[in-house]
Amino acid sequence: MADIIDGRAISKEIQSEVQRDVEKLRAEKGVVPGLTVVLVGDDPASHVYVNNKAKTCARLGMRSAVEKLPATTTQAELLDLVARLNRDPAVHGILVQLPLPKQINPQVIINSLDPAKDVDGLHPFNVGLLCAGHPRFIPCTPYGICELLTRSAVQIPGSDVVVLGRSNLVGRPLSVLLSSKGRFGDATVTVCHSRSAHLAEVCKRADILVVAIGQREFVTADMVKPGAVVIDVGTHPARNENEKMTGDVKFAEVSPIASMITPVPGGVGPMTIAMLMRNAVDAAVIRTA
Ligand code: GUN
Repeated sequence: MADIIDGRAISKEIQSEVQRDVEKLRAEKGVVPGLTVVLVGDDPASHVYVNNKAKTCARLGMRSAVEKLPATTTQAELLDLVARLNRDPAVHGILVQLPLPKQINPQVIINSLDPAKDVDGLHPFNVGLLCAGHPRFIPCTPYGICELLTRSAVQIPGSDVVVLGRSNLVGRPLSVLLSSKGRFGDATVTVCHSRSAHLAEVCKRADILVVAIGQREFVTADMVKPGAVVIDVGTHPARNENEKMTGDVKFAEVSPIASMITPVPGGVGPMTIAMLMRNAVDAAVIRTA
């Protein structure tokens, strides 16, 4: 039976480290890191995420603000807000919550962020730094997955990793990090996706299988090598009272053959917020260095 990788415990550990850094920055430089989260529209899940981010910020001693805009906001109005936040010296980090309403092109907004405040690591400048092997802000979910692996003593160098999913938010940056030189790197990485041939066979070669394909319980036992480490990035809410929240992995049949596995909830989810706090403090440190 697999050991459970406890994302809640590891997230708390990282948040304590961040809190210490916040105190140090205040004591030594008189600087309070500030994060502003921008939320457009009324997606209920996004409201929950954004409120949690603001609460965590406050708990760690940071300055946090949430800018809530109506679903009818135009792209020009959102660009104006981003320009104002770019100019505000008390704002060290900006996160524009995705998805955005359909009249707004998310890439146009991301491109308008000051790259030095882009704590999501999604601006092309930061994507370029990551690809060139000198990451500044690592996108929060891939960063969280790397911390889960290293803090669980999983050997990344030399291992065969399969990343299932190629999104800009998770699969793509994670595959770059794990295959680069550096503290989370030196693995042999295969990226596959919904259009890959022989998916089950490819997944079965993985020492570390990361699943971010966005399909409920997509990975079954026959796709997993005995003893593999399985990281499940999916979150699918219960559809009725008899169902629980599930991930992209069929946990009940995969956990008996994996050596380690992340649960849903309580695996990757709690890590994202911890890494956002890490990036926000790092943004303040960079600004004041
Ligand atoms: N929506 C879901 N995940 C994320 C994330 O990591 N960053 C942003 N900006 N929006 C998200």
